[in-house]
Amino acid sequence: MRGVLDGSDPRAVAEAATALRAGLLVALPTETVYGLGANALDARAVARIFEAKGRPHFDPLIVHVPDADAVATLALVDEARAHFARLTAAFWPGPLTLVLPRRPVLPDLVTSGLPSVAVRVPRHPVTRAVLRAAGVPVAAPSANPFGYVSPTTAAHVADQLGDAVDLILDGGPCAIGLESTIVSLLDDRPTLLRPGGIPRADLEAVIGPMAEGVRVLERPLAPGQLARHYATRTPLRLVTPDALTPAPERALLVLAGPPPAGSEGYGRILALAPGGDLTATAAALFATLRTLDAAGHAGVDVLPCPLEGLGVAIMDRVRRAAIDG
Ligand code: TXA
Ligand code: MG
Repeated sequence: MRGVLDGSDPRAVAEAATALRAGLLVALPTETVYGLGANALDARAVARIFEAKGRPHFDPLIVHVPDADAVATLALVDEARAHFARLTAAFWPGPLTLVLPRRPVLPDLVTSGLPSVAVRVPRHPVTRAVLRAAGVPVAAPSANPFGYVSPTTAAHVADQLGDAVDLILDGGPCAIGLESTIVSLLDDRPTLLRPGGIPRADLEAVIGPMAEGVRVLERPLAPGQLARHYATRTPLRLVTPDALTPAPERALLVLAGPPPAGSEGYGRILALAPGGDLTATAAALFATLRTLDAAGHAGVDVLPCPLEGLGVAIMDRVRRAAIDG
């Protein structure tokens, strides 16, 4: 690896853009999670993403572009024009990924051979500057090894991918902390494919009711594999306030609100949003799972948050990290 560069330095932005154009792998900060980027038009560069992540199979990737106009070279926006225009005006740049019919210019590896492509305009100023300077679309999955929680700091990426990545741009901790919401515009009725950084209700306020679809990524190769996505090594267990199992070697993670009565006997108690603000929970979730995983606890009990707003995406990720799925 050439190093971790400060993304607020314009020279670092220029170096990252040059590296991307040269077919190298660059870890980029976004407002959701850090991405592992490569030139989406360069099949060999994209192949290195899968190698670096240790993915056992090829999942379709999200292609990142600097603005909505740049989508037209990659995808057919005409058929989805009304929804596309409303959604991009309301939520781009931001944590929303749209699935559209693809154009042939993209290598099959980016889309996993699908006739569609997922596109997003990220909001993080460092990555927007890189995208503008690079002048090529950037395919980027979350910059974690396959099956582990997504990185929300540059140090997470360096710790886990190290020399597998050519350059890391440090843009500070991710403000949102959960991956983007994915909406397919392939059918007349938009379909929610992955809950994420924009709550469903916010989207439906703009385009009306969405259908619910099946995610393409994280499709299990074998039964049980789905549950291991976003997994930690330390067993996580979802608990209710009346079924706590306090013990000195166990930790309690409270996703919203204060620790309940009866939690005193845990070796460690972490309350991510004592006041109940789920944006705080989302921003801290993945880093907290890593910290707890490194601490050597025998197990972590997790008290769920309400399934409202961002709580849907938070609980989606926590369930996937928990031992019983
Ligand atoms: O916030 C995010 O979305 C982050 C940042 C880096 O942008 N990226 C991210 O990428 O989470 P990844 O690879 O971890 O997840 C990509 C998701 C997968 O669920 C994949 O199946 C879905 O996007 N996807 C990609 N192309 C698709 C397509 N053509 N149709 C349906 N789903 C697609
Ligand atoms: Mg991922």
